[in-house]
Amino acid sequence: MFYSLLFQLLAALAAAQYYEGYEGDEPMLRGAPPRTAPGPMLRFGCSQIVIERLDPLVDPGMAPSSHMHQIVGGNAFAASMPTTNIAKLGSCTSCHFKEDLSNYWTANLYFKARNGSYKRVPQMANQFNDGDNAGITIYYTSSGPSSATAFKPGFRMLTGDSTQRKSDNLGKKMQQCYRCYTAENWGGSPYSPCMDPQLDTDYFPKQPCAGGIRSNIIFPLCWDGRSLDTPNHKDHVAHPVGGPTSFPIVNGECPSSHPVKIPQVMLEVMWDTRAFNNPDDWPEDGSQPLYLSNGDHTGFGQHGDYVFGWEGDSLQRAMDNACYLRNCSLLSPMPPKVKNICQVSATVKEDLDAWLDELPGGLKGV
Ligand SMILES: *[C@@H]1O[C@H](CO)[C@@H](O)[C@H](O)[C@H]1NC(C)=O
Ligand SMILES: *[C@@H]1O[C@H](CO)[C@@H](O)[C@H](O)[C@H]1NC(C)=O
Repeated sequence: MFYSLLFQLLAALAAAQYYEGYEGDEPMLRGAPPRTAPGPMLRFGCSQIVIERLDPLVDPGMAPSSHMHQIVGGNAFAASMPTTNIAKLGSCTSCHFKEDLSNYWTANLYFKARNGSYKRVPQMANQFNDGDNAGITIYYTSSGPSSATAFKPGFRMLTGDSTQRKSDNLGKKMQQCYRCYTAENWGGSPYSPCMDPQLDTDYFPKQPCAGGIRSNIIFPLCWDGRSLDTPNHKDHVAHPVGGPTSFPIVNGECPSSHPVKIPQVMLEVMWDTRAFNNPDDWPEDGSQPLYLSNGDHTGFGQHGDYVFGWEGDSLQRAMDNACYLRNCSLLSPMPPKVKNICQVSATVKEDLDAWLDELPGGLKGV
């Protein structure tokens, strides 16, 4: 055991010339959290580019859109986005790899105090992503080298359902989950996303989480091979025949209607709930005080949006060449201080940090 660890550590040091600056991945390379599938897996942070009430997929052209989002990626993000190559429209990205000008966005989280006022729960840089300006951690995973077909320019999709208020009962195959960290610095769980039988739930944690709450959102794995989008932004993608795969497995047989395996995209968001753990501010009956920006008080309505925007065939090459975490000599990494410069100025101006009588957009949490 000791020698195996020592060997892996030395091997990692020897490879440092390929991997300089990403020693943050080293604990993951050593196998914590463990990954059971052998395939390629990119994992990298994208800093926040803007928080605002826009949704170019569901409410194209509407400013403001129905609810607040936190957005990362390329700076071509706007109230409406053409189905052309957004990698060519943007000039920078807040993502770790310079080639990725995609956009990714999710709902925000709000805390409702006992007096009825709401406050946005801030995000924080995720584990192993020191220096990031909050944002979202992005994963692209496939079951083996050359087994996934990368997305085409103009591709977009949505996963989850903002109107959902009950469980899909998918157990370890759940497609979105929350992890309640029981101690600071991501303490409490060594499990892969959505695999912890105690701390991962598809509903909001019922108890205060001393180390914050993580939200994971997993996209489907199969594509119809033709459509860049469909009216509900979902029907051109599908889960494998046996239902969704869990995050660590990333495999299964695609249905004949959706025969093409795409990389499994997963979004990971860290919310810093530490300022909101005082039981005196929680409801008197001790029930949890959290709301998604769409008004959802259960957590089941978490959802994620994706607009593909990698330059050329860069994503395909990374997946075909077994790139792992941030170790990918085919791609151009950027240190946080460089990617953090990329910003989009908000078109819908709102005070993001005030105590509010209602959720942005006049939504009442239900
Ligand atoms: C990084 O990737 C290269 C090429 O695949 C590999 O040889 C090297 O061992 C990897 N480095 C680490 C630290 O895993
Ligand atoms: C409601 O409670 C919060 C937390 O205690 C406090 O900061 C805020 O000012 C209160 N808002 C109103 C309108 O009293």
